[in-house]
Amino acid sequence: MLRIAVQSKGRLYDETMTLLEEAGIKLNKGKRILLLSAKDFPVEVLFLRDDDIPQSVANGVADVGIVGENEYVEKGEEADLVKRLGFSKCRLSLAIPKEETYEGVTWFEGKTIATSYPVILRSFLERNGVKADIHEISGSVEIAPGIGLADAIFDIVSSGSTLVSNQLKEVEVVLPCEALLIANKDLPAEKREILEELLFRFEAIQLAEGKKYVLLNAPKEKLDEIIEVLPGMKSPTVTPLANGEWVSVQSVIAEKHFWEIIGKLKSLGAEGILVLPIEKMII
Ligand code: PRP
Ligand code: ZN
Repeated sequence: MLRIAVQSKGRLYDETMTLLEEAGIKLNKGKRILLLSAKDFPVEVLFLRDDDIPQSVANGVADVGIVGENEYVEKGEEADLVKRLGFSKCRLSLAIPKEETYEGVTWFEGKTIATSYPVILRSFLERNGVKADIHEISGSVEIAPGIGLADAIFDIVSSGSTLVSNQLKEVEVVLPCEALLIANKDLPAEKREILEELLFRFEAIQLAEGKKYVLLNAPKEKLDEIIEVLPGMKSPTVTPLANGEWVSVQSVIAEKHFWEIIGKLKSLGAEGILVLPIEKMII
């Protein structure tokens, strides 16, 4: 049995649950709300505050954890970083009142900065040779300058709307963050094996992300040009159609080039273009 610690609520929660579900981990509803076992897979999920996840994984209360990079770096616990999960992206940034003129980190010299991330902030200030006063508070950091508690803040920025509504502006991005999969350093072989299976499933999901499956009919004489605009995983699959002049082509394309590729395919005479979502991809 592999015990996974996840955030019980907050910025990582929804996407973490979606990832587990897509990986085939369906949780049994139980009387215990904090620890749920999975159906058909030797995994149980432990719901914790995200600040507690690094330590729980380091000391073995949980075997692995899905946690924000901000908490993993701040806590500095002895746990292995197994995989960057690519979701819940945000950044730890310094922000100051929007009317201030900012010309560089020396602005912070002698100032008071409110934060819930004193370790990361201290190391940034030291690296930059800036002496400032770190005022540690656990929540609502963004209101500190407005109420005269600090000159600046160091906090998570995602959409930036919290800064805007508090008349602050982001001036230094210190640490880009995303969700991480971390693991205890001494997992026994049997747990490692379950972790490998979990990783295999996560990777299949990640590979499929942002990709579409395309099927189309193409005139045979345009086939070479059409294959050129379809950068599939390998070469596309080409099947002859009953009408000998036409072929059916199947391939995988990246969503971000979608409209560009479809436009080129149409101008090359492709017809009956079907675009399908890809759920998982195993290569
Ligand atoms: C962070 C941060 C801000 C907000 C920024 O809090 O402290 O309050 O997100 O996001 P935005 O740029 O999209 O407005 P979080 O949601 O992580 O909650 P917490 O402060 O309770 O940890
Ligand atoms: Zn916050």
